[in-house]
Amino acid sequence: MNDAKEEIKSRLAVEDVVGEYIELKRAGRNLKGRSPWGVDKTPSFMVSPEKGIWHDFSANKGGDIFTFVMEVEGISFREAIEKLAAKAGVELKKYGNSDTKIAKKKTRAREALELATKFYQVCLTKNPPVLDYVFYKRNLNKNTVKEFRIGYSPKDGQALKNFLTKKGYTENELETAGLLNRFKGDLFRGRMMVPFINTDGSVIGYTARVLDKSEPKYLNTPETLLFNKSRYIFGYYQAKEAIRRDGYVVIVEGNMDVISSHQAGVKQAVATSGTAMTEQHLKILSHLTQDVRLAYDGDEAGIKATERAINLAGNLGIDLSVISDYHGTKDPDELIQKDKSLWKKAVENPKPAVDWLLDKYEENLNLNSAKGKKEYSDVAIRLISYLKDPVIKKHYEQIVAKRLDVTVEDLKSKKLPSSPTHRLKPVTTEFEKPERIKILEDSLLSVMLFGGEIGSKINLEVPEDETKLDELSLIFETKFKNFNKEKLEKAIKEMLAEYNRELSRLKIEELSKKAEEYEDDEEKFNDIMREIEKLQKG
Ligand code: GTP
Ligand code: MN
Repeated sequence: MNDAKEEIKSRLAVEDVVGEYIELKRAGRNLKGRSPWGVDKTPSFMVSPEKGIWHDFSANKGGDIFTFVMEVEGISFREAIEKLAAKAGVELKKYGNSDTKIAKKKTRAREALELATKFYQVCLTKNPPVLDYVFYKRNLNKNTVKEFRIGYSPKDGQALKNFLTKKGYTENELETAGLLNRFKGDLFRGRMMVPFINTDGSVIGYTARVLDKSEPKYLNTPETLLFNKSRYIFGYYQAKEAIRRDGYVVIVEGNMDVISSHQAGVKQAVATSGTAMTEQHLKILSHLTQDVRLAYDGDEAGIKATERAINLAGNLGIDLSVISDYHGTKDPDELIQKDKSLWKKAVENPKPAVDWLLDKYEENLNLNSAKGKKEYSDVAIRLISYLKDPVIKKHYEQIVAKRLDVTVEDLKSKKLPSSPTHRLKPVTTEFEKPERIKILEDSLLSVMLFGGEIGSKINLEVPEDETKLDELSLIFETKFKNFNKEKLEKAIKEMLAEYNRELSRLKIEELSKKAEEYEDDEEKFNDIMREIEKLQKG
């Protein structure tokens, strides 16, 4: 795999790969542009053609062409290498690895699904009652049907299997693709077929709807080698351009809501298909934008889903809001059928998720009674505990205290309620180190490695990864190269001081969490508190 990687790198210029997503302008030996994550006010995205690397100073990320495509498309390393290999004209097969058994099975399944999709598409055109359902009952137009590759699976129960068997696919291969039921017949019968299209445009499964009132309303492809529902985002492939361009994503509940929304011109819509939102879903979306708007129902399930999303989003720096004004209709699809401009307006006026939830709690509880106040404070405190930013936390503490007519201190003296049904498992992420520490660490490392003698004052562990080292040299060039000795010394001093402060703050945070666990063990608890005090004194 490393050989293939090197071969691809030698054939593709970093500025060409990046240039497909961002407009780059020359700046000396490097090129400059705007962050694709839309967080910079002035261009802060640097590309070094000589080194074959990039660094985004506003989002504090960087790397080579592979990491760029992974980040910007929200895809895996494997997918990035496949994409860039195709672009570079490098045959991955030659480099072994890709003809592992699993890879072969996946390729066959992908090919079978592509043929199946075409088969379903043809079946749709030949079936007037289904055409009626798709075009008149669901109000989809030709373009939409084509873009989302909507089709129809015949009723007879063997049609697809016969078709693909004739094309040389074995029963086993069709099972791998998730196309057969347990009796080895067609899984999908007499349903409108909506393909799950992957980030690379290939079909990896289906969601299939009945045309009448029978049950189950939807049947989805089970988990397969290709389809993983906790990662898959319906509509992502069709939405990603618009999400990147406009800087926000709209998450709706149903797949048909996504399709309707696209047709209505709101192309930032996606859905988590037939499953609750996971951290992986959010992480993939966070590569495209930090502005995530949930179009969930205001019912109990919608409230729970929003609480869950806030808990997950806290770790990813995502700004969550809620779109809730459906003008009395049941979901975005129905709102669009009524008047699509109402949907457009709703999408442009979301409410911060925490405000929305607090309002919901207030609606459902009687804040004039002691019991209502207690319940409100329980849910509100739990909600606030999910928030990471100290300023935002404070903001909501004050709001909640005010609504309850108590002081923030009163509120804080309440213990976090631990109702097991509500308490979500703590979420771990790869981004454990807070952003600020990482930025300081990168800057300090860059001076340590490329700042000559002055840099020797810094003593950090040198990263081994070569791409990282190149990136650090780019950081040095961009940030510190023009500093004279005095200025650089001053900068190092300040950065080191802040770095150490941040580190001890982090340590204190960890210790406080530990202390909470040992609340009943006085001796241990006191030990931890002493350690914390030591750190606080510096
Ligand atoms: P339409 O009736 O076609 O407009 O669907 P909807 O999206 O409005 O459906 P609903 O609000 O009933 O459900 C929302 C989402 O839950 C759907 O998009 C599906 O992903 C999922 N869902 C609903 N019914 C079923 C079902 O019977 N089986 C499965 N697996 N998922 C379902
Ligand atoms: Mn619907």
